Parts: sequence; structure tokens; C-alpha cells
Amino acid sequence: MPSQPERSPPFRCLFTNLEILTRTRELGRELQDELGSEPPCLVQVVEGARPFARLVQQGFVGQRMHDVRAKSYEGTVSTGEVQIEMLEGFGAMDVVDREVVLIEDIVDTGRTIEALRAHFLALGARRVRVISLLSKPSRRVVDVQVEHIGFEIPDEFVIGFGMDLDERYRELPDVVVYDAEVERGAAASEA
Ligand code: IMP
Repeated sequence: MPSQPERSPPFRCLFTNLEILTRTRELGRELQDELGSEPPCLVQVVEGARPFARLVQQGFVGQRMHDVRAKSYEGTVSTGEVQIEMLEGFGAMDVVDREVVLIEDIVDTGRTIEALRAHFLALGARRVRVISLLSKPSRRVVDVQVEHIGFEIPDEFVIGFGMDLDERYRELPDVVVYDAEVERGAAASEA
């Protein structure tokens, strides 16, 4: 059963909060089996990946979470370039000779993950693995490797469970499909 708050527009639900929890538990186990006993350097791509990363972190008790921000600039002068910012308390040395686990909400064109992987390998990471809640394979522009994927989805814009549209809807508990019509309809019926 979808678990949207009463005042949310009735967007179509793709994955309920419970489905996300269940699938993330499976993925977390896969990841732990692969990594063995060596503690990885956990890196979440903020803001969107926070709720998913919190669940992944539960399998690595005592490990701190590092934050990275990645912004891609697209549009008229776009080169699809990704700007990377390592946030408070995250030093370049934290990744040297470590297994880095990049935790992402969604892989779309693949540019963000490609740039982040290259960034951490250049800083001296031994290996970079990617775990992403969602993937849109039909949108790929670069052929990136994503080792652990929660769910593959079609080319639709999704929100909820950390993912936003202009900073809105991150707090929805389920992953739903954004639809401007649905949003307008809900606003009209409230007026
Ligand atoms: P990529 O570099 O094209 O793979 O883009 C990945 C980033 O784009 C994600 O981390 C999200 O921030 C954003 N993104 C891509 N698709 C969606 C979506 O459907 N909903 C919300 N954010 C998205």
C-alpha cells in the first residue's frame, strides 16, 4: 500500500516505502558479501541519496558517512560537465587505498557516477563500487558500471524518498512519478 501523506497530490506510486526497505536490505547484504571484512569508505551523493544511504549504512555499523555534492550543468552551453564538491570533514586522504562505496539515489545519463568514480580513483581509491536505489537504463549517455541497483525504471521523472523537483517532494515516503497535471488538479481541488 502506498503511504503518501494525505495532503500530497495523488502521484502514481512506483515503489512503496516498504518495498524500498525490503530491496535495500537485500542489496546491502550483497554489498557486504562482496566487500568482506575490510571496512569501506562510504560516500553519499547529497542531497538525494540521504534516505537510501542511511539504510545502506545500517549494514556497516560504526562506519561514518562522507558527503559529496555533484552538480551537472546542462542546457544551451552544456557539456554535461559535473562539478564535484567534497563536503565538511571529508578529506582527500580518507579514500587513499580504500574500497569506496558510492551511494546514489538514481543513475540517469551516468555522467555523475562516471565523474565521481574518476574523481575518487584519481585521489587514490583502490576501487570504487556504486550502489544506487534506481537506474534509468534507457537514458544512459555514458556506459558506466553500476554494481548494485535497487530497481530499474523507465524514462520517467521520479520524486520522493529523497528525490526532489526543485527541492520539493523529497520527504514523500514512497517513490512516485511526478506529473504536473496531477499536481495542478490537487491544487485546484484545495482552492
Ligand atoms: P546523471 O548524471 O544524468 O546520471 O544524473 C544523476 C542525477 O540526476 C541524480 O543524482 C539526480 O540528482 C538527478 N536525477 C536524474 N533523474 C532524476 C529523477 O527522475 N528524479 C530526480 N532526480 C533525478
